[in-house]
Amino acid sequence: MSVVHIDAGPGSGSASVQTAPSGVAVASARVAPPRDGDKPHRPGGSTALTDLPPADAAFRAGAVSLHPGSARRPGLAATAPFLRACRRDQPETTPVWFMRQAGRVLPEYRALRADVPMLDSCRDPAMITEITMQPVRRFRPDAAIFFSDIVVPLVAIGLDIDIVAGVGPVVAEPVRDAAAVATLRALEPDDVPYVTQAVRSLLGELGGTPLIGFAGAPFTLASYLVEGGPSRNHLRTKALMYGEPKLWHDLLDRLAVITAAFLRVQIDAGVDAVQLFDSWAGALSEDDYRRYVAPHSARVLSAFADEVPRIHFGVNTGELLTAMGQVGADVVGVDWRVPLDEAARRIGPGRAVQGNLDPAAVFAPEPVLAAKVGDVLARGAKAEGHVFNLGHGVLPETDPGVLAHIVDLVHAG
Ligand code: CP3
Repeated sequence: MSVVHIDAGPGSGSASVQTAPSGVAVASARVAPPRDGDKPHRPGGSTALTDLPPADAAFRAGAVSLHPGSARRPGLAATAPFLRACRRDQPETTPVWFMRQAGRVLPEYRALRADVPMLDSCRDPAMITEITMQPVRRFRPDAAIFFSDIVVPLVAIGLDIDIVAGVGPVVAEPVRDAAAVATLRALEPDDVPYVTQAVRSLLGELGGTPLIGFAGAPFTLASYLVEGGPSRNHLRTKALMYGEPKLWHDLLDRLAVITAAFLRVQIDAGVDAVQLFDSWAGALSEDDYRRYVAPHSARVLSAFADEVPRIHFGVNTGELLTAMGQVGADVVGVDWRVPLDEAARRIGPGRAVQGNLDPAAVFAPEPVLAAKVGDVLARGAKAEGHVFNLGHGVLPETDPGVLAHIVDLVHAG
């Protein structure tokens, strides 16, 4: 992906942050019964999962019962267009949200972040709540995405990682040998109390808008850890994968445990759906993806079957869509390179699709943009379910007004 400098803007950090008073009360009484997903995944477990069935019929019908005392908002699954489309129901209007809708293009985000390092903002429930809400107020999308970053759980277990503006995550001591892999311990809920607090606060603020939780998939996290930062060709990562397959699977096993635990915290706090970002999976051949990556992603996604819709997304994955459709997600995110109807064919039956307007289309003249939005809608209508999105994250130069216009175009059909 392109790495673009984010201008912190001239703001003085004067934007105010408030937490919702109601969220805490909503969430306080929850006692979850034991579930399969609570069984600890431990490194060294089986990695033989490759073709998991889609969610069962009760889940698709929206009839799945919430855990007693869950903070999740009752009734939302049956009414919210985003959640209905994830279940391959056909809502009256196509739901739309934007990857990376929080931050980057909003002056109120830049003002709030002016004096606050990225990872500090990701560990402050009041800031998480405010930044998650900013694009919801501006664009009125059909879903909010929790403000965080894919490296947050790795920082939470003690790794020294910084997010450098204009660069991305930078790892102080890259993970390249067995001793380094052995330091990757499991994530406990107490490592990320700010996540639980922020989700609960958001449930009180969001009204009828669903909240998407997310995490980085094992391969994408491994690439950052092995390379030490963003990488174009993932050379050291592939060298480890091919050269030391046993160590590779140990690394991805541990990352799957951490990722599943991070998503578990978000789901237990009440998020309505989760997205697993395998942003850099497109660097792999299909054979390598199936051999070295898919079992670990499948293991993460299988931990939440029948609980909330699971979205799985990567960039440049045209040749991987069939394989990615088999790791157990309910919705497969598609970048802008493959038309959605063809993508749905490759993904196969039993899955909804998400995507896939070229993020650069926001810079096109309005009639061209409108035609492109219409084309995505028409092709998406041929899939079993469609959530409109960009084919990758919002580009920093994007005019927020154009994003609001896209929401209107999608809702008008
Ligand atoms: O979608 C959203 O709006 C929710 C927030 C979100 C962020 N990161 C906040 C963020 C999400 C979903 C992510 C996921 C993420 N982070 C991914 C997967 C998605 C993708 O783009 O493929 C990846 C690969 C990362 C790692 C990462 N973090 C990168 C590559 C960068 C960009 C660095 C830069 O300066 O451009 C970040 C930083 C980051 N994460 C920002 C935001 C809002 C910008 C930080 C800033 O404002 O300075």
